[in-house]
Amino acid sequence: MNKTVILKILLFFLILFLFICCENSIKEPKDYEFNYSSPPPGFPPIPFPVDNPFSSSKEKLGRYLFFEKILSRDSSFSCASCHNPKYAFAGNVPNPLTINKFPLFRNTLSLVNVAYRRTLGWSGEDITLEHAIYNDFFSPLFFDNDTNVIFQRLSSHPFYPKMFEEAFGKGVKPYPYLAAKAIATFVRTLVSGNSQYDKYLRGDSNALTTKQKLGMSLFFSERTKCSFCHSGFLFTNEKFHNTGTTPHYFDFGRYYVTGKLEDRSKLKTPSLRNVALTAPYIHDGTMRTLWDVIENYSRGGFPFFNKDTIIKPLNLTYEEKEALVEFLKALTDMEFINSPRFKSFGY
Ligand code: HEC
Ligand code: HEC
Repeated sequence: MNKTVILKILLFFLILFLFICCENSIKEPKDYEFNYSSPPPGFPPIPFPVDNPFSSSKEKLGRYLFFEKILSRDSSFSCASCHNPKYAFAGNVPNPLTINKFPLFRNTLSLVNVAYRRTLGWSGEDITLEHAIYNDFFSPLFFDNDTNVIFQRLSSHPFYPKMFEEAFGKGVKPYPYLAAKAIATFVRTLVSGNSQYDKYLRGDSNALTTKQKLGMSLFFSERTKCSFCHSGFLFTNEKFHNTGTTPHYFDFGRYYVTGKLEDRSKLKTPSLRNVALTAPYIHDGTMRTLWDVIENYSRGGFPFFNKDTIIKPLNLTYEEKEALVEFLKALTDMEFINSPRFKSFGY
């Protein structure tokens, strides 16, 4: 082989490499119409705000942008990098690495049914989804990007300008605040309520195993008091508690919002829907399995001055612990997780 042939081959591979490494954007849009007709039985209608009502074109745009890496500074991160559909839109690592290779000190929360939640994050911030997402674009912990860069990238993209016009009206440009609105719309449609437990509630007495039924009666019992805090259709009272999950609380939890000592290291009760898919657990992700969580409740948690008085040793037997874990597994909605709406993005 002569030199020019070798050079040509090298050049070919260089171009191929550049193409693979830098072309991080999503390919052509696929249509999966989301039918926002009625929420699952027992669920109220999705509360879309008046200044950002639902439309299917907005949901579609938001869905693409949720998986879109070009929104981040070096096109390496999307929302789905941390909120993976496979793990019920939570993560599978205790401290996710940020775009700047810095570990977050908090466990990623699931986005499923977040439309119904009153506050956001483990501390319960009173902020709209639109604002939270817009802030993520520029935060050094999330996308670390710049308004103009995002605007330029979306404006020169093969299909986003058209999708923004379809979602927001003729002649509308792809501004980042509109991107945040579209993503918020998509996130609100992540409603899941078709688990084995739901099927059981709707009259299918075979939807739960004998063990799961035992777990269910324990969960709703006076003895364990699980449902005092994990109450309602989302299995959360939306309140803040310290449950003695760790011997050292580095996270001040609700205190960051209220500044009150009585709120020190109290955390927002997480929803338990799809919890079997969202390991690791608790605010700092230090509990690896559901078994670990149940063990800790059984022991009555670690001592802490703000620990909830409800949390006391339960001394559960091996069978009872197993039954509780099995019941929690019955809260998984595989139909939702396997929806082609998300699967088509390759997660
Ligand atoms: C580097 C990982 C990472 C990325 C990227 C990321 N998130 Fe998060 N997200 C988290 C963590 C960790 C939390 C919990 C934060 C807290 O409690 O303070 C969270 C919390 C949230 C919440 C609050 C959930 C609840 O139940 O209260 C929403 C909503 C959310 N993220 C949406 C998004 C969206 C939309 C994007 C893309 C624009 C995104 N996130 C990008 C890690 C990430
Ligand atoms: C006093 C209120 C309260 C009671 C009672 C309670 N929980 Fe919790 N639960 C919480 C809070 C708050 C957290 C988050 C704790 C943290 O992050 O440190 C939590 C976390 C969990 C988690 C981990 C969820 C995740 O996504 O990380 C599971 C599973 C769980 N609880 C199940 C139960 C079960 C089963 C019982 C009964 C044995 C129970 N809880 C009793 C408030 C409560």
